[in-house]
Amino acid sequence: MTVQWSSGTDLHLELDPEQPRSGPALAEALRGAIRAGRLAAGQSVPSTRALAADLGIARGTVTRVYEQLRIEGFLQSRQGAATTVAARVPVPDPAGAGRSAVVPTTLRWSLEPGLPDVSAFPRLDWLAAGRRALAELPADALGHGSDPLGQPRLRAVLADYLGRTRGVLADPSRTVICAGYAHGLSLLAQLLAQRGPFGFEDPSLQLHRRIVTGAGVRVVGLPVDRDGAQVSGSAAGVVVVTPAHQYPLGHTLSPERRAALAAGGPAVVIEDDYDGEFRYDRRPVGALQALAPDRVVYAGTSSKTLAPGLRLGWLVLPPSLVGPMSALLRRAESRVSVLDQLTLAELIRSGGYDRQVRRMRAVYRARRDRVLELVRRRGDPVTVAGIAAGLHLVLRLPPGGPTEAELRATCARHDLAVQTLDRHWLPGSPEPRPTGLIIGYGAPAGHAFGPALRALDRSLTDLF
Ligand SMILES: Cc1ncc(COP(=O)(O)O)c(C=O)c1O
Repeated sequence: MTVQWSSGTDLHLELDPEQPRSGPALAEALRGAIRAGRLAAGQSVPSTRALAADLGIARGTVTRVYEQLRIEGFLQSRQGAATTVAARVPVPDPAGAGRSAVVPTTLRWSLEPGLPDVSAFPRLDWLAAGRRALAELPADALGHGSDPLGQPRLRAVLADYLGRTRGVLADPSRTVICAGYAHGLSLLAQLLAQRGPFGFEDPSLQLHRRIVTGAGVRVVGLPVDRDGAQVSGSAAGVVVVTPAHQYPLGHTLSPERRAALAAGGPAVVIEDDYDGEFRYDRRPVGALQALAPDRVVYAGTSSKTLAPGLRLGWLVLPPSLVGPMSALLRRAESRVSVLDQLTLAELIRSGGYDRQVRRMRAVYRARRDRVLELVRRRGDPVTVAGIAAGLHLVLRLPPGGPTEAELRATCARHDLAVQTLDRHWLPGSPEPRPTGLIIGYGAPAGHAFGPALRALDRSLTDLF
């Protein structure tokens, strides 16, 4: 329900519908609002009288709840002053161990994976490309009825770009524009739902598995080792893999496994090439799609090269899927803005996109080297993995070392947000599972990277 807060603002409280007027329900709803940031650090909470009246519950109940949350560290109060949300609040151990650790409400630094440095978005180049695209745009391109597969101009430019830079066997008629990989995956799940379960790497991004299960499709796990995903023997009819840089472990699919996957097995392979542009050490690893273009869907995105907020991604489909995809997109009416599509086309055509990728490749490579330097200098008993590409690497923990919950909590005490491997395993995946810290060195703005690294250094000192 939504209650009127004392400051005059509305606050959404998720009260247990079974017993909305109970103290425990109110306490949990307030904890949830604080953790989710709907109630920010330092914000006053209403008087016990006002909240009791708003919710239609006894004032004593609210008083007891406030006292409980004060003891737990969510609220703070001083004699004669309003009760406020604490600057640091407890977070639960997501592994469910019931342990909690005190961390700031919002952390100052972040080395979380999944984001590029969005402060480096090429604003001027984007503006200039947009201006040129708009100047050339015929008025009827702004009406209804655009090609559901995407603007032909962008599809042509992209097909050429993907062939040149990633070795994809693309032609414009099979290249489809979508609102990021997540949208592309959702479309593919709808299209391929009848082809049997989807195999996902174990570990992999939970968000993507949820998109597939949300379309009513069963998900099965594909074990991952140093050679990447093991697909042979899987019951999956469709597999989703990250061959260039396994997410999150960072391995590259070995040539033998690539060849085996291309030769047979699942009916359809979805190749998620989310960070393929950022390769540092080895010779570029070309797209798996080129080995079996009739079975492999190549999926790319601008989320790492430009910004995830753009929501611009692309699929290169096997010929047999083009017709069904076109029909699905026409039915769904889900299309990316024509202006954004044509701006991206112009950015690629003019060479601005290549320049941005080259510039950021150098930036990310230098950052990766600084992380490696820190790890080598410290000499902690951790193993580094996944350094050859992308915007993240993994620090694998020794058996018997700190738990992942301790890792997160310690980093949080140093004002640093990090992610660990634990949330990426499929339910019921075999034990023991490797433990580790995923360091996303892409996300911080240039000025924030040094402080974030120093916070990591201090955290590791506490841990080892
Ligand atoms: C494994 C993986 N695949 C794909 C993506 C790109 O997703 P999207 O294009 O939906 O932003 C990401 C981005 O975070 C990712 O981590």
